Amino acid sequence: MMEGLVCGVLTSFMFLIFCFFNLLQSTNAQGFLNIACCAESSFTDKNLSWIPDDQWFTDRKGCRNLHQGNERARVFEIKSGKRCYSLRTVKDHDYLIRGSFPVVETEGAEFDSSFTVSIGTTPVGVVDSLSSEALVVEGIFRAPNNYTDFCLLYGKGDPYISSLELRPLNDTEYLKDKSSNILKLVNRTDLGGIGETRYPDDRYDRIWKPASSLYFQANSTVTIPNNANTTVPLDVLRTAVTDSTRLEFIQNGLDNGDYNYTVILFFLELNDTVRVGQRVFDIYINDEKEEENFDISATGSNYREVVYNVTAKGSLNLTLLKNGSQLGPICNAFEILQVRPRDLETDYDDVIEIKKVKEDLLMLNQGNSLLETWSGDPCLPDPWQGLACSSTNGSTVITDLDLSSNKLKGPMPPSITKLTHLKTLNLSNNDFSGEIPPFPSSSNLTSLDISNNELEGYLPQSLLSLPHLSILYYGCNPQLHSGLTSTLNSSKLTTDSGACLRKSKGPIKGIVIGAAACGSAVAIVALGAIVVCLYRQKLMARRKYNGKGLSLAKNLVFSIPSTDDVFVRPISIQTYTLEYIEMATQQYKTLIGEGGFGSVYRGTLPDGQEVAVKVRSATSTQGTREFENELNFLSAIRHENLVPLLGYCCENDQQILVYPFMSNGSLQDRLYGEAAKRKILDWPTRLSIALGAARGLMYLHTYGGRSVIHRDVKSSNILLDDSMCAKVADFGFSKYAPQEGDSNASLEVRGTAGYMDPEYYSTQQLSAKSDVFSFGVVLLEIISGREPLNIQRPRNEWSLVEWAKPFIRESKIDEIVDPNIKGGYHAEAMWRVVEAALACIEPFSAYRPCMDDIVRELEDALIIENNASEYMKSIDSIYSLGGSNRFSIVMEKKMVLPPPSTASEPSPINPQPLAPPEPR
Ligand SMILES: *[C@@H]1O[C@H](CO)[C@@H](O)[C@H](O)[C@H]1NC(C)=O
Ligand SMILES: *[C@@H]1O[C@H](CO)[C@@H](O)[C@H](O)[C@H]1NC(C)=O
Ligand SMILES: *[C@@H]1O[C@H](CO)[C@@H](O)[C@H](O)[C@H]1NC(C)=O
Ligand SMILES: *[C@@H]1O[C@H](CO)[C@@H](O)[C@H](O)[C@H]1NC(C)=O
Ligand SMILES: *[C@@H]1O[C@H](CO)[C@@H](O)[C@H](O)[C@H]1NC(C)=O
Ligand SMILES: *[C@@H]1O[C@H](CO)[C@@H](O)[C@H](O)[C@H]1NC(C)=O
Ligand SMILES: *[C@@H]1O[C@H](CO)[C@@H](O)[C@H](O)[C@H]1NC(C)=O
Repeated sequence: MMEGLVCGVLTSFMFLIFCFFNLLQSTNAQGFLNIACCAESSFTDKNLSWIPDDQWFTDRKGCRNLHQGNERARVFEIKSGKRCYSLRTVKDHDYLIRGSFPVVETEGAEFDSSFTVSIGTTPVGVVDSLSSEALVVEGIFRAPNNYTDFCLLYGKGDPYISSLELRPLNDTEYLKDKSSNILKLVNRTDLGGIGETRYPDDRYDRIWKPASSLYFQANSTVTIPNNANTTVPLDVLRTAVTDSTRLEFIQNGLDNGDYNYTVILFFLELNDTVRVGQRVFDIYINDEKEEENFDISATGSNYREVVYNVTAKGSLNLTLLKNGSQLGPICNAFEILQVRPRDLETDYDDVIEIKKVKEDLLMLNQGNSLLETWSGDPCLPDPWQGLACSSTNGSTVITDLDLSSNKLKGPMPPSITKLTHLKTLNLSNNDFSGEIPPFPSSSNLTSLDISNNELEGYLPQSLLSLPHLSILYYGCNPQLHSGLTSTLNSSKLTTDSGACLRKSKGPIKGIVIGAAACGSAVAIVALGAIVVCLYRQKLMARRKYNGKGLSLAKNLVFSIPSTDDVFVRPISIQTYTLEYIEMATQQYKTLIGEGGFGSVYRGTLPDGQEVAVKVRSATSTQGTREFENELNFLSAIRHENLVPLLGYCCENDQQILVYPFMSNGSLQDRLYGEAAKRKILDWPTRLSIALGAARGLMYLHTYGGRSVIHRDVKSSNILLDDSMCAKVADFGFSKYAPQEGDSNASLEVRGTAGYMDPEYYSTQQLSAKSDVFSFGVVLLEIISGREPLNIQRPRNEWSLVEWAKPFIRESKIDEIVDPNIKGGYHAEAMWRVVEAALACIEPFSAYRPCMDDIVRELEDALIIENNASEYMKSIDSIYSLGGSNRFSIVMEKKMVLPPPSTASEPSPINPQPLAPPEPR
């Protein structure tokens, strides 16, 4: 106990030091900030002092040499979202920011990544690891706040960065009349220059790159007149290009859409003898005459700079054409900047408060996997995990915060109450302690769940008098007293009145474990990738399968242990009262789906768990049978890839089934429903969903020595939980496979058009291979992003199966692959899945593989898809583990996965998740 206390005090003390450091964002005398990502310590290089990035990212696990040189890069191993460097800036001051991204030249392993870079939420560039030269992304902006984020957004593969530089731009006019824009550097050229010019010659440390061999160097006597006020270094202006009639500069490779550009041209007359009228030229940009009879000397000075704002698409052509004078045009330097309107950011007050919430939580929850993903803008472009936001009238605000079941400890961060747009707040199933902070009356909270914590004291009066509060769950906090029951009872609140309806935290933990199990199963597959890499040649050698079923499975080099045994839990189905269901669904307020059986509503149990409540409609007779069927199967069957039944209610003729709510909807939605329009499902995710669903079906097909056949496998019955783990749902039609002596006649044909096994349909002979056929259709949906049946399409494309088959047979898979994932998959992995799909949709069931063959094939595909990035990271550790038994290597690796963030040790009796769930 004492030890724990000392430890706690120590960590928070250390955190304070860390925080303090964070405030001391050290800058040079010029106000420059130079961050060398993954540097071991501070150092000085070329007159500039550099600091490591450990104040932003404390861990070093992403530190890599992506290049033979010794430049380090930080690689962010993330699967979604973004990682940002939040830099201190002075509000309304102008800055130049520059991120550098090294050439990727890793030997022996593929590193394939492509990601967007943004300043705040405004994208300013795309970095691709295939680029043969180091990339620099530079932007000029006016700080809207006292911080500015520089972000790498997850796209494909792991984002990376080697350095970041921030320079204040005092007294420059770049953002004159453009303060609500970001200027992205396209080209900054020192014409006729010989070497690169930057700090200290350029006081803002702009980098001027030399160009053009036709150079014209001034006599050393040439100077810039004092009244020119230019900030361009003399070194840059001392050289120029000139021609007797015309100068032309073509900038290709600009973005394809229409964009505004700022073009700045710098002129210094280098020939002392030139007088007014001797060097006169016209200036054209993309054939548009911007200036006629331009004469540097006309103003009585030998220096001029001009700024043009133009709209262009794809390319820019700058032409200077002599106009009747003795000498031809001259030009010393130019800059081309793309003008990008600033994208909307989340409401400033909300950002400040949620950042404080994060900091407060981090005090006692260092290394929490959820908080680690919280970086940059909380809502845009995608909300942080656990947050939901809404945008109205040009302002984006945080409306929901769900921190439930995250093992968070310490006091409730008071800043939570200051998120004034927050409507629902769920802190249930954590270890929050201390008193509940007061809520300001400006709070818009409608639903608060703080149940199942260690909170103390009384419910604050300020909370009970919140004008919009309609749901309040606070049970299962042994030290928390309502104190004001009269207020509670008289109000219109839906509340658990502090009752602890859930006897222990047990069942909830079970769910958490389930989710984690899914995450770790994927992790195991990923780790398995390393092993397979060593055998890659062998794998390549046995590419084609030989037609009848999948022979591949038989000579697999290793097999991945099934997690079934480890995670199967004793099954306890709860019986709920109708009243309880009505409270959980707030009188069936939110309808989320409708089917033959009845309607499905969303609800929240008093312990905070979100549930889907399936209510049999009074008119459905078929429903009764399905209800019982589903209840029977699900009471007995449980697997991480099958939607579990939490409980049921059978009261007053009502038949109700309660499942955990699957926050990511169905695979169908994600592939071509509404959700697909918001965010494309990438190929690795599709693959792991396919594998999850296949494992669920394999479990069913081998259940209890007697196969269970689902009979309605389709993408809308594959649901996705919050970590995108696939769960097969809807067992209303499921049957035990017929055994000898069973009468087949009693089985009416069931299924959904487009997924139906033609053999089963014509013979009415039911077997597990019918599910295999339907699963093959699901695989084709995953590959192509198309519906199984769509009569809106041309006649020959109505049926996905009939359309896809000929292309596959002619090896033209590009024709069928979803255009949204083009370029985002490993061809070998795609082929595996295509071949598996083709085998599944064989017209004769005898030729179709079994689910366990398919599972192995999909595991292989996922391994191949993952191996490029995983191979490199872990090859060393595999060698050091040694051992000839590959199976045991995988098991060993499982044990060395990072422990959960809490102090409690996993115990064999009540196993804790081996690894936190993958952050989305
Ligand atoms: C810009 O202003 C800051 C603060 O006013 C000052 O510290 C810095 O030296 C200035 N930099 C330049 C290049 O003028
Ligand atoms: C930025 O300003 C907010 C208040 O507007 C303040 O709470 C926060 O500490 C400031 N941040 C920095 C880094 O100065
Ligand atoms: C330079 O600045 C001074 C004072 O700010 C101004 O009067 C003058 O016109 C400027 N010269 C040029 C060439 O912009
Ligand atoms: C910038 O412009 C110069 C001169 O036209 C050209 O040589 C150079 O390649 C351009 N740089 C980039 C990055 O496009
Ligand atoms: C370009 O600038 C004009 C005028 O400032 C503005 O109306 C237009 O929307 C801008 N176009 C783009 C693509 O930003
Ligand atoms: C440079 O100076 C020399 C002698 O002082 C002169 O002959 C020559 O014309 C000058 N060149 C230019 C470009 O002004
Ligand atoms: C400098 O200008 C004079 C005209 O004033 C011209 O005769 C001479 O050729 C120019 N020198 C160069 C190097 O262009």
